[in-house]
Amino acid sequence: MNVITLPEQGCDWDSLKQRMQVLQRGDWSHRDGRLPLHCYFAGEEVGKVAAEAYSMFASANALAPQAFPSCGQMEREVVAMVLDLLHRPDGGAGSMTSGGTESIILAVKAARDHARAMRHAHRPNIVIPESAHPAFDKAAQLLGLDVRRVPVADDYRCDVAAMEAALDDETVLLVASAPSLPYGLIDRIEAMAALALRKRVWLHVDSCIGGMLAPFVQQLGYPVPAFDFRLPGVRSMSVDLHKFGYAAKGASLILYRDAADQQFQFSRFNRWPKGDYFTPTLAGTRSGGAIASAWAVMRFLGREGYLHISRQVMQLRDRYLAGLAALPSVQLLGTPELSVVTFTTRSPSHVFALADGMRSRGWYMSLVASPPAIQQTVNLVHAALADQYFDDLRAVLHDVLARGTEAPADRQQLVVTY
Ligand SMILES: Cc1ncc(COP(=O)(O)O)c(C=O)c1O
Repeated sequence: MNVITLPEQGCDWDSLKQRMQVLQRGDWSHRDGRLPLHCYFAGEEVGKVAAEAYSMFASANALAPQAFPSCGQMEREVVAMVLDLLHRPDGGAGSMTSGGTESIILAVKAARDHARAMRHAHRPNIVIPESAHPAFDKAAQLLGLDVRRVPVADDYRCDVAAMEAALDDETVLLVASAPSLPYGLIDRIEAMAALALRKRVWLHVDSCIGGMLAPFVQQLGYPVPAFDFRLPGVRSMSVDLHKFGYAAKGASLILYRDAADQQFQFSRFNRWPKGDYFTPTLAGTRSGGAIASAWAVMRFLGREGYLHISRQVMQLRDRYLAGLAALPSVQLLGTPELSVVTFTTRSPSHVFALADGMRSRGWYMSLVASPPAIQQTVNLVHAALADQYFDDLRAVLHDVLARGTEAPADRQQLVVTY
């Protein structure tokens, strides 16, 4: 095996760049629309703003707002703009983080430490729908909490009565998604918020996918139920700016209804020789790049720009819904409010054969395990190849149905592509 060591001598940038371009050839393109998730596109110009702003501040360290007040100011402005979109109550607060996972870990920490400060919990737990992101389990593992994952209702949204039955005096956090990643459906957040108030439990709404899309889709007149701070029981929210916010990767927000709750997220330490060490998030050093990228894209687009893009996203989503409705045997798992579309086939085992056929035609497939389904986070990167996607889907489906192709049993045990 080749042992990799630091080269004795450096190499010129042009040759390195060429080698990196070769490496890149092995990646799926984030621009050609064959990846169903992971990449979000809002036009070349927006991408350029995101990248240039990132590189301008790539070396700035937001750990030290005294040294880099620019980062502090941009972060405060990004937080304020998104709190406003999500019907900020007076006194709201938040921080920028590296991604949805970090935002969620911080929300769980804040809820745990808040509960600790208020009452003694012997073995604290969090109650989350089965469809919630695994970042909650990661957080619970790190923070020493039990997780109670509650099966979703028949319509794949959280089952509020079952969530209520699962909580007890040791529950420090309830969770709902807007929308969930596997199904693309917004949970019953109004009912969850009422439950949270009645039981006096912290409710976190994970709107990593929807936080920067739903407000605009709502404004465009599509039916989107209340999911944000408008509902008094919603205490914290996670919102990814590197998804439908169109910032460079590494940009998310953890937001609180009440600034006092944010205190439980912070970390302070002074029992070392260098005195006070304060970090608002999990990171120490934080690149100013992601903060600058989010700030610049949000100001570049403005409300008008996001509305324009969101309208196009929803029109494309409607093309997907119409395309799927026209296919034999295909069934949507509920009607999505936003643009995450999940569908299955009448015989669920056909899903795997369908995915295999699509893979052989050059599509990366995002699968759901339970029930077997195909998922796509529709955004503008998918516009150019949408017709080809449906031509291929129709052809492969025709084949699968004609042959009655059942996936071999052990296919169902395979790890589902993320
Ligand atoms: C609903 C939801 N929550 C949380 C996350 C985690 O976000 P990240 O991958 O940025 O850590 C994702 C990622 O796709 C998500 O879809």
